[in-house]
Amino acid sequence: MFLPRGIQRAARRRSDLYETSWFQPLGFRFSGFRFQPSGFYNVMIIFEHVSKVFAGGVEAVSDLSLTVEEGETLVLLGTSGSGKTTTMKMVNRLIEPSGGRIFVDGRNILEEDPVALRRRIGYAIQHIGLFPHMTVAENIGVVPKLLGWRHEDIQERVDHLLGMTGLPPEDFRERFPRQLSGGQRQRIGVARCLAADPPIVLMDEPFGALDPITREQLQEEFLALESQIRKTIIFVTHDVFEAVKVGHRIALMDNGEMQQLATPGELVEKPANQFVDDFLGQHRFQLALLTRTVQSILPREGVHEEKESDTGEKIAAETGRNLSARASLIDALDLFKRTGLRQVSVYDGENYIGRLQKRDLTMAIGRVMEGTGS
Ligand SMILES: Nc1ncnc2c1ncn2[C@@H]1O[C@H](COP(=O)(O)OP(=O)(O)OP(=O)(O)O)[C@@H](O)[C@H]1O
Ligand SMILES: [Mg+2]
Repeated sequence: MFLPRGIQRAARRRSDLYETSWFQPLGFRFSGFRFQPSGFYNVMIIFEHVSKVFAGGVEAVSDLSLTVEEGETLVLLGTSGSGKTTTMKMVNRLIEPSGGRIFVDGRNILEEDPVALRRRIGYAIQHIGLFPHMTVAENIGVVPKLLGWRHEDIQERVDHLLGMTGLPPEDFRERFPRQLSGGQRQRIGVARCLAADPPIVLMDEPFGALDPITREQLQEEFLALESQIRKTIIFVTHDVFEAVKVGHRIALMDNGEMQQLATPGELVEKPANQFVDDFLGQHRFQLALLTRTVQSILPREGVHEEKESDTGEKIAAETGRNLSARASLIDALDLFKRTGLRQVSVYDGENYIGRLQKRDLTMAIGRVMEGTGS
């Protein structure tokens, strides 16, 4: 289940995709039909000027426009009451928008049967929501059963998902939710939303209300899982560290309005306004260390000249004594601390791309500190 952190990050970071400035406006303008320019990307979900006003006049979401790319994890981040759950529930029509349009895989969802729509969208609801009178296996198998899967196929799927989320099937299949810890219940919630292998998954604070250690463990597992399953995911959280860790892009909401839509790195380094700046607050330095990659601080000169193909490097790779180019400065700091080395090798996938000296890292951290006003 656990992949080395560097490998996870290398597998998931595709921020270069979003640095093309035409991505957002184009994706948005081509709403209403399946948009596939040269197969480079495919827009999966489109919000077009969406708003929601509840009876009683609360405007939970105002004029929201954004796109979610196929295979992307988009995080909705914001404080309590900022409209995250409302935004998410509009995608599977648990809440109907008051204005605007939403397209899922090229189709206007208001013109679709809501039940059919929900069956192709996995949903892990806030506060888990397992059925207390059903076993773990029955809980996970709810949607496959509705879809008319054969009993044996459901059982096989349940066991596969339990294994994938780190719970031995023979031990957990027949338990009831009350016989599980909070963290185990959350894993079942995640397994259940993936059960029918939907292309789109909505996850509302799936790791909320957990202690920091279990939470971090589930986040790591989520990243490993995500790199295997490649779903389009909308992930809600109010925790900025979680957002930076799991999201390809983050939509920061306040009071029903989107304040910024950006990659984690952009959000931290270029807050769009005072609200974003205040939201990141005193965490900016730590966040910048998390979002800045080792590659970005590697000395340029001579990087590709040095060849490292001997077995020494291979042994280092196997014993966790080197770094992925996409690893964060925090990962680098951890590695130097753990190993006591003064320099480590950096790899982009299998390719050696250079050496990082401990003093270069220290200097880079100093620069980040100055840049974030810490
Ligand atoms: N059914 C409803 N009727 C009236 N107002 C509602 C309803 N559901 C949500 N709201 C209001 O809409 C606003 C946004 O709620 P929402 O649940 O989307 O927030 P959230 O960002 O998910 O918050 P949290 O982090 O606490 O889950 C809040 O002011 C809330 O009180
Ligand atoms: Mg919510």
